[in-house]
Amino acid sequence: PVITLNLANANKNVSPRLYGLMTEEINHSYDGGLYAELIRNRIFKDSKTELEGWSLVKESPSEKASIKLIGAEEQVPNDERRNALNGAMQACLRLTVEKTDGRVGIANEGYWGIPVRPSTTYHASFYIKGTDRREPPRWSWEPKPTTAPLPVIENNTPGPITVSIESNDGKTVYATGTIHLEKSIYWKQYEVNLTTAANITPTKNARFVISTNRTGVYYFNLVSLFPPTYNNQPNGFRPDLMQMLVKMKPKFLRFPGGNFLEGPGITDAFPWKTTLGPIANRPGHHGSWGYRATDGMGLFEFLKWTEDMGAEPLLAVYAGYSLDGDHIDAGPLLKPYVDDALDEIEYVIGDTSTYWGAKRAEDGHPKPFKLSYVEIGNEDWFDRSNSYDGRFNQFRNAIEAKYPQLTCISTIPGTQYPSMKVTGKEPAVVDEHYYRDAWDMWQNASQYDTYDRNGPKIFVGEWATREGAPTTNLNAALGDAAWMTGMERNSDVVIMSCYAPLFVNVSKDSVTGKKAWQWDSDLIGYDALNSYGSPSYYVQKLFSHYLGNKIVPVTVSNIPVQNKPLSRRDSVEGKKATTVPTVFYSATINDTTGTLYLKIVNTTAKKQPIKINLDGVLSVDPEAELIVIKGDKPDETNTITDCDKIIPVSASIRGVKKSFLRKLDPYSVSIIEIKTK
Ligand code: AHR
Repeated sequence: PVITLNLANANKNVSPRLYGLMTEEINHSYDGGLYAELIRNRIFKDSKTELEGWSLVKESPSEKASIKLIGAEEQVPNDERRNALNGAMQACLRLTVEKTDGRVGIANEGYWGIPVRPSTTYHASFYIKGTDRREPPRWSWEPKPTTAPLPVIENNTPGPITVSIESNDGKTVYATGTIHLEKSIYWKQYEVNLTTAANITPTKNARFVISTNRTGVYYFNLVSLFPPTYNNQPNGFRPDLMQMLVKMKPKFLRFPGGNFLEGPGITDAFPWKTTLGPIANRPGHHGSWGYRATDGMGLFEFLKWTEDMGAEPLLAVYAGYSLDGDHIDAGPLLKPYVDDALDEIEYVIGDTSTYWGAKRAEDGHPKPFKLSYVEIGNEDWFDRSNSYDGRFNQFRNAIEAKYPQLTCISTIPGTQYPSMKVTGKEPAVVDEHYYRDAWDMWQNASQYDTYDRNGPKIFVGEWATREGAPTTNLNAALGDAAWMTGMERNSDVVIMSCYAPLFVNVSKDSVTGKKAWQWDSDLIGYDALNSYGSPSYYVQKLFSHYLGNKIVPVTVSNIPVQNKPLSRRDSVEGKKATTVPTVFYSATINDTTGTLYLKIVNTTAKKQPIKINLDGVLSVDPEAELIVIKGDKPDETNTITDCDKIIPVSASIRGVKKSFLRKLDPYSVSIIEIKTK
């Protein structure tokens, strides 16, 4: 193959926001992921099992104790409502200790374990109250309680309560502390720091325990345990994951979804207002991926997260359509939702004289965040009622009237769904989603080369090469890289893109083997203790890192192709064999420094010699930097126990000139950084 770069004609700008991130609560991305909280089901509202994540701790069989869920969501009997901490925390855990010989307590298993690291301080906090065992006041017309009366024992007994992080069998205590419980029938919050010793071996086979050696009735709520967080922020993020994201240099973060924005039904749409303020005020909500979201990761945290990465928020607002297909038609019934979106935008960018801007200041960020794009809904092409046209226009008109500086994104790309596209003024930007296999990526990598330059700009708001699980393999990375060369070559029209899903907790239940994740082929994997990047992660990171500000036009010749073998079914269905190129490319240059970034993908098992011509430069530094991601087989991958099988390797190369030869490694993505004048 011959690749010729026409440097004299590098006139079109690379979009300054080409590479960003997309996020939602899927695969335990936040709870059990980026959000550093270690306690699962901290407010006892997760209800797959009674008291999910919690168990009773007893030292000997002669001890008599029990735990019970009091007032689970949506079924709070009157006599138990008095145990609510507030409107958000209506359920609690009751520990009844009738007899103890050693210690009795409650244990939390965390999100597939509690991570224990040496010389580390964890901050534990929880609410406890006792009971006066009196019958609650009841009106004569109220039904008699159906729950069993409490055993006739003492109230919670004041004195020390032990808090610890320990091995699952309780034999090894990694860190311990004590709080002094007051006798009280009122909720009181207790806090204690737990520090591990320097000489322990990191493990995730650990649990969190609160225990007592005295009888009594103890109610617990909002039990929380935080390890050190990124930048030591309260209610913050896991440092290892944040560091991986920061290294990707994302320009924006699309949140809060995806499906997570929409919710399973209309009442489950992302409830941004109840995700603000102290965590004791956050009831959480039904997520879209089969588990409840604590909303510890709320709107403010999304904004902080974005800022901490040096990125800009791309805010998706709920547009009145949910996953069950239910929708609210444009008109007066939709108005409260439009108003809610306006409030949300005010929270993000309103100054402190506005109601929601003042709330943001109260939450710790007086300065408005940056915001340029607001996306109206998510994947509204699923709305078979075709109501998006009216809904989009109602949202857009209201948003643009109040915030003319903002650009609204439509979730229906007209090229894909011409019959559904919005009417009236053409949207400035449309969101396209592509989940494909590597072959499809190779086949479509040049789809934007011929895209109408007079149409809306493209935001590829979700895309991935879906090969490998839970994280992608090398072949997927080759599909991704080929696709990204196409976006990069056309980044005058593809102005933003973000891979999805970003995160996956790769744990499995030790007894049932049930997976922690719902979606295969994700970018970054982790368990409670460790994390790793997929080959696709490294492609993302390098593409974002090695990027100029001008697109260099490239012409190619003699690119070998490969044919997809037809399956029997394809033949029966009369399908034709498809042919795809085996080399993909893009080039960008920084027009201030003259640094050129050439990206070349070889998808085959063979080394491919390639001639590179740099036309239109005065001089070229003979020494360049070469960064390669490669492997021996397309299904090779990284895993939680073998994190670094496929990682980029850098080297200096010599002999670079206006025309030079390179041999591309088999199954490789190569980036050559060349200094030119
Ligand atoms: O990324 C996973 C899901 O795929 C997103 O939630 C949804 O928008 C898409 O269908």
